[in-house]
Amino acid sequence: MTSDLIRLSRAQVGADELQALARVIDVGYLGMSVEVQTFEKELTEYIGNDRQVVCVNTGTSALHLATQACGIGRGDEVLIPTITYVASFQAVSATGATPIACEVNPLTGFIDVDDAEKRITPRTKAIMPVHYASGFSDLEKVYDLAQKHKLRVIEDAAHSFGGFYKDKRVGALGDIVCFSFDGIKNITCGEGGAVVTGDLKTAEKVRDARLLGVEHDTEKRFSGQRSWDFDVTEQGWRYHMSDLMASIGRTQLKRLSEFSVRRQQIARHYQQFLKNYSNLQCLAIDYDVVVPHIFLVLVKQGGRDSLRSYLQNQNIQTGLHYKPNHLLTLFKTDYALPKAEQMYKEILTLPLHSLLTDDDVKRVCEAITTWVKDQDKNAA
Ligand SMILES: Cc1ncc(COP(=O)(O)O)c(C=O)c1O
Repeated sequence: MTSDLIRLSRAQVGADELQALARVIDVGYLGMSVEVQTFEKELTEYIGNDRQVVCVNTGTSALHLATQACGIGRGDEVLIPTITYVASFQAVSATGATPIACEVNPLTGFIDVDDAEKRITPRTKAIMPVHYASGFSDLEKVYDLAQKHKLRVIEDAAHSFGGFYKDKRVGALGDIVCFSFDGIKNITCGEGGAVVTGDLKTAEKVRDARLLGVEHDTEKRFSGQRSWDFDVTEQGWRYHMSDLMASIGRTQLKRLSEFSVRRQQIARHYQQFLKNYSNLQCLAIDYDVVVPHIFLVLVKQGGRDSLRSYLQNQNIQTGLHYKPNHLLTLFKTDYALPKAEQMYKEILTLPLHSLLTDDDVKRVCEAITTWVKDQDKNAA
């Protein structure tokens, strides 16, 4: 008998989200209105009252609008760790700017700030550190570098909603912080994202640009009006969040602490378990402060693909987060990034979501143990 599939990731949604959707459907207006306005208020209260929160339709559009709001475009360069979802690179190139692929720290997957500094040119306008696997180890160093070279910092925090940085919620500090609420993130809106900043001007630009550049359209919609006689002075996009999405997000935000506890428990369990195996290395991440979106194991000595297919045969899904962007045709570089390339050969993502049971986690760990024993037997 084959065991049930253990999924790599999934959303925890149900009756509460259905009820929230029904509330919007009852009103009969599904676009951007009161639910989005309220979700933005609730996110502001959650993250920090001195922050501006602008909700959009994806994490990718949050990054795109944030980059554009910094005045970045054709001829400019943005430093990005090469190991990230292609969304970070596409968001920058969507502005016309060039994403500059940088090395990562193999212990954390975070951008290698010394490598990034070497790639600074007169065209460099920003750095986009990615909270890879929800960690942000060298973020302070990123801000030091940014200050030294007068760069904007656009944090790709798609993985890290709900975590703490310097005793404050992720998003409470920093220049611009972008979240994703896609279908499998720490909270979901179905799809969705948010730009968070303390800078009013940046927030204002993002607000207008999410609605095709129609000036002050957000304020109009939030007061139940439409913009008929308006002006547009900058390129905009159709990137706003809908009330349907926001209603799911509001429900998920209320359930976040429940999800976070479970995600942290599972990650701590994996971390502890993997200490038994010298060939299997975890990232240096503190799950007391971080809410993990994905859990990475680095499989040393060339065993990654073998472990991956062994787990697949046990009906356990795994992932490869992520292929380095400088190896993709569109973002190919004429330089190598050997640390990232080596890391990519070792990366394996284990199942992690709030609906995994203790038995599921046990099954994953037991499968890994059996694979290690088989490897040892074959080597003997
Ligand atoms: C690191 C990173 N950045 C950006 C994104 C883009 O977010 P979205 O899928 O909401 O567009 C993702 C999504 O998986 C991501 O993992």
